[in-house]
Amino acid sequence: MIKALEETTEFLQARGFEDPELGIILGTGLGKLVDELEIIAEVSYNHIPGFPTATVEFHKGKLIYGKLDDKKVVVMQGRFHIYEGYTLWDVTFPVRVMKRLGIKKLLVSNAAGAINPEFKKGEIMLIDDHINLQGGSPLAFRGVEHLGTRFTDMSEPYDQESGRIMQEIAKENNITLHKGVYASVVGPQLETRAEYRYLKIIGADAVGMSTVPEVIVANHLGIPVAAVSVLTDECDPDDLQPVDIYDIIQAAGKAEPQMITLFRELIKRIELKPVS
Ligand code: HPA
Repeated sequence: MIKALEETTEFLQARGFEDPELGIILGTGLGKLVDELEIIAEVSYNHIPGFPTATVEFHKGKLIYGKLDDKKVVVMQGRFHIYEGYTLWDVTFPVRVMKRLGIKKLLVSNAAGAINPEFKKGEIMLIDDHINLQGGSPLAFRGVEHLGTRFTDMSEPYDQESGRIMQEIAKENNITLHKGVYASVVGPQLETRAEYRYLKIIGADAVGMSTVPEVIVANHLGIPVAAVSVLTDECDPDDLQPVDIYDIIQAAGKAEPQMITLFRELIKRIELKPVS
């Protein structure tokens, strides 16, 4: 386990991924932030030893190292999901590698369905808390206890300071930024009306198929994490419209300029403190 992490880290360091300060995971339809980067190095996931092989056709599947406003960043353009057949260890392996490369903070984006009826398609939600409905933990693997505390505290899984700054940025730029609870499901099927009703009752504001495993591992490693969802469809169980994955991707793409503003400005303004 540790050997695999070391091998991947050394491979990337040898290709120029030197001391990134910040890790960024870009979700569905949100890959364009990389156009803002001064790219120094990039490698396709399927050329990185130890990485799961990228299969989701909508993602480009590349790890990119570069500079953004003088901060050294490592960007995952596309992520791994358990619905592709990967384990929760595989899905979160890149977060562990990014920590070994040196990141001090992690920023995460995703596409999600809006459960809260006040939240509309195309709007953005800052994730303030989550509910793990993926039926497993990325920490429930043999040997993980050597990589961090086993009983990881999750009383405040999302970095409050980054959230506050993002709300400030949203206000200055007239971006609607909700704040809420993200529920993660396995997918890849979308939810039934009964499931959307259930998600609302248990306190979810949005639902998606990612992010929570990465956030759990970031907490395990002591890396502060900020995450935002683009709301790509409205999940009203009493008036449910069939959803098409291409609609979801298109809706995510439409919100992309606002997501880029939020992330870019946040990267400019955040202070990066050393993590243990
Ligand atoms: N459900 C689950 N995942 C999603 C959805 C949804 O409605 N929309 C985008 N990702």
